Amino acid sequence: MSGPRAGWVGLVTGAASGIGRAAARRFVAEGGKVVGGDIDDKGLAELEDELGQDAFVGARCDVTVEEDVAALVELATSRFGRLDVVVANAGNGTLGEIVDLDAAEWRRVVELSLTGAFLTIKHGGRALRAAGNGGSIVTVASLNAVQAGRGVGAYCAAKAGAVALTEVAALELGRYGIRVNAVAPGLVQTGMTNALWQVPAIVEEYVENAPLGRFAQPEEIANVIYFLASEESSFVSGSLYSVDGGARTRRYPDMIAAFERAGG
Ligand SMILES: NC(=O)c1ccc[n+]([C@@H]2O[C@H](COP(=O)([O-])OP(=O)(O)OC[C@H]3O[C@@H](n4cnc5c(N)ncnc54)[C@H](O)[C@@H]3O)[C@@H](O)[C@H]2O)c1
Repeated sequence: MSGPRAGWVGLVTGAASGIGRAAARRFVAEGGKVVGGDIDDKGLAELEDELGQDAFVGARCDVTVEEDVAALVELATSRFGRLDVVVANAGNGTLGEIVDLDAAEWRRVVELSLTGAFLTIKHGGRALRAAGNGGSIVTVASLNAVQAGRGVGAYCAAKAGAVALTEVAALELGRYGIRVNAVAPGLVQTGMTNALWQVPAIVEEYVENAPLGRFAQPEEIANVIYFLASEESSFVSGSLYSVDGGARTRRYPDMIAAFERAGG
């Protein structure tokens, strides 16, 4: 696959774990250099040890804090001299029906999964525009951006918002040769979904609802993120790539009922 330009540099938020970590690894394997932001210093340090500081530098960055995101973008140019690819990956959800959901919890999810994407696109997009070499921005949305689920109102709304934002960014940044796309993973085995494996019925229901009959590993999402970062997708912008084993064609598991049956 033909990658981005020679000597390219990528930025990944939420790089310490799961999909972000897999994307950082894939970028480095493809010859890129990566700046990774996260609130998990230990996870970043492990990845720095694994990939080497010539290829990967981690920095504490809370994507809900604008100065942190601006500083992470700045680090890409100060450390590696350029920026070509930006991945707005950090995100998380919560479980609770709308009528029971605390407004503070709603705000936490929207801040992280939507405002975090906004700040990453804003500052990453500014840097790409200023450099004048085009580039690629990828947001990590979710199956829940397009499929409703009981108890995932805040997450669905935040991720659907992130997809809408991706489309607007594609519209606004296209004139600078900057492509902006989103991926929508189904169930992936990562830190975020660890708790689901404590209730096997939930994972089973996901698997039943995915025509491919399984869940994914983070590398399978990173493959599509890399495709969108690379020149192989040179005419793709404003798109949403489902990476869900076909799960959007069926229905979302009832996680609340499964937790209740499990006595949780
Ligand atoms: N795992 C899944 O099944 C799944 C499915 C669909 C979408 N997603 C999305 O994929 C993305 C990555 O999640 P993952 O599954 O790899 O989870 P993960 O928990 O393995 O990794 C998420 C990373 O984000 C970091 N993070 C959390 N809050 C942050 C903040 N405020 N600022 C910066 N970093 C922060 C965490 O420390 C962690 O390292 C998220 O946006 C998530 O919503 C995951």
